[in-house]
Amino acid sequence: QWFNTPPSEWDKVFLRFVDKMRAHKLFALFIAIVIVILLTFISGCARFFQEYFAGSVGAFVAVDLSKKMYQNIMTQSLGFFESHSSGDVVARFSNDIFMVNRGLSNAFIKVLREPFKALTFLIVAISVDPWLTLVGICVLPPLGYALIQLGLYVRKSVRRSLMKVADLASLINETTRGILIIKGFQMEEFLKQRYDIEASRLRRFLRKMVKADSATEPITEFILVVGFSGFILFSGYRVITYRLDMGDLLQVYLALAMILDPVRKLSTVNNMIQTSVASAERVFEYLDLKPDIQDAPQAVLLEPLKREIRFESVSFSYDGKKIVLDNLNFSIQRGERVALVGPSGSGKTTLVKLIPRFYDVKEGTIYFDNTDIRKATLESLRKQIAIVTQDTILFSGSVRDNLTGGNTHITDEQIEQALTMAHAKEFVAQMPKGLDSNLGEFGQLLSGGQRQRLALARAILKNPEVLLLDEATSNLDSESEKYIQEALTNFLKGRTSIIIAHRLSTVMNADRILVLDCGRIIEQGSHEQLLKQQGVYYQLYQHQFRNAYETTEN
Ligand SMILES: Nc1ncnc2c1ncn2[C@@H]1O[C@H](COP(=O)(O)OP(=O)(O)O)[C@@H](O)[C@H]1O
Ligand SMILES: [Mg+2]
Repeated sequence: QWFNTPPSEWDKVFLRFVDKMRAHKLFALFIAIVIVILLTFISGCARFFQEYFAGSVGAFVAVDLSKKMYQNIMTQSLGFFESHSSGDVVARFSNDIFMVNRGLSNAFIKVLREPFKALTFLIVAISVDPWLTLVGICVLPPLGYALIQLGLYVRKSVRRSLMKVADLASLINETTRGILIIKGFQMEEFLKQRYDIEASRLRRFLRKMVKADSATEPITEFILVVGFSGFILFSGYRVITYRLDMGDLLQVYLALAMILDPVRKLSTVNNMIQTSVASAERVFEYLDLKPDIQDAPQAVLLEPLKREIRFESVSFSYDGKKIVLDNLNFSIQRGERVALVGPSGSGKTTLVKLIPRFYDVKEGTIYFDNTDIRKATLESLRKQIAIVTQDTILFSGSVRDNLTGGNTHITDEQIEQALTMAHAKEFVAQMPKGLDSNLGEFGQLLSGGQRQRLALARAILKNPEVLLLDEATSNLDSESEKYIQEALTNFLKGRTSIIIAHRLSTVMNADRILVLDCGRIIEQGSHEQLLKQQGVYYQLYQHQFRNAYETTEN
């Protein structure tokens, strides 16, 4: 036919080109090679950009998720951090985020490309012979079913192995933090065994995952071949009964082969996606967390304390079973200095933690003047309070950052002042870079007493209305403590403070002493009053304080 129609201008040009090429064979070869190189280059570029953009999308989404997760974690209450191991938290930020990223990138590359190819060839096949095509794609439902089941199995194994990874991370965290005790008490073998057991469990789950993943391609292949056999039988029948000519048959064959190739590729991608889904589920779990302590819907700004902090019938329990604080009724006047004493485990630390709402009371109410602290915004409440905890917590970073918490309005002069009051000025001055010296993770490069003094300086710098000191000077030598006592006397004037201490000098200087036992206040009054009562405080004084007092005096 092509000979009958007169050649168009373009055809003429093309024919002339072909003639020329025939004459110059080497040149033709050269042109062909150049074209191949150019095409490879272009397709390479296209592939690069596709993968680069897909990967970038993965990276953007994963990093964004991790930022959101961090923000959300920060809003959680203390209870959350007590019920989730550090390893679990760390694993979600490291391992899981990484897996989500990998999954997303792969999904964008393969999942976008392959179905598009499959669809194109499906249309071709249908246009040639719809019945034959239908028989050809009959293989897809059973294949899909098998792939989904395998994928679910992969996901389950991955989820379990991720939990094991988290357990291992916890163990490693405990090991690094407790290395001194591990070595000192020769617990190496014990911990090694614990690690071995956990690691073997991880290996078991990983192997289950690999098993399902390895089975995927062979199973896919098998189902495809069985399906294809049916297809060949049917197509043979159609050719023999003259409903289909050989040329068309070939076209449908080719088109179907082109459809099935992406299907096979997708079969393994599915497992990879399931792997990321298992991680993504863990990430979203943390993104969806709602803090159990947060601002009430119409929370008010808490005014600075004017009269008193009042506990009314306050009870508290961590687990809902064991009562830790039992029906507490007392108030602390503004400007008062209250000491809290009692045997360990009596609930002193817990009581103090209720005031900044680290936990909410289970029954009763804590009032700041006449505002229930649960009706005030957390920000306005915590702004008024500074706390020095029993285990002093410092962060890796400079002395300055630890003291100011990133508040750039605080001047170096103010910092120096606070350091002087906390008797920390000298040792900070002796550090190699002064205020810019790094403290190491958890402030590990300092002694316990030095850490406490910095924690105290941090509390002083906050310039709080209410100061909560939980055994804040327990690690100090008596000389430093005396010095700090004197410096603090001035600072505490006009401020409300609750001081948990077991040194007599600290307790004696308080305006009022509350004696806590088994979560109840059993005595209160001044030092002299309580001694006269000859009750629990008197006994504590006899056994505990007097020795401490004597050593202080010597
Ligand atoms: N985070 C916690 N989760 C569960 N129980 C706790 C927690 N913290 C303390 N407890 C329990 O609460 C009781 C009071 O502890 P605490 O307030 O620390 O006492 P104190 O400071 O007087 O030594 C103890 O029996 C302790 O076992
Ligand atoms: Mg305590």
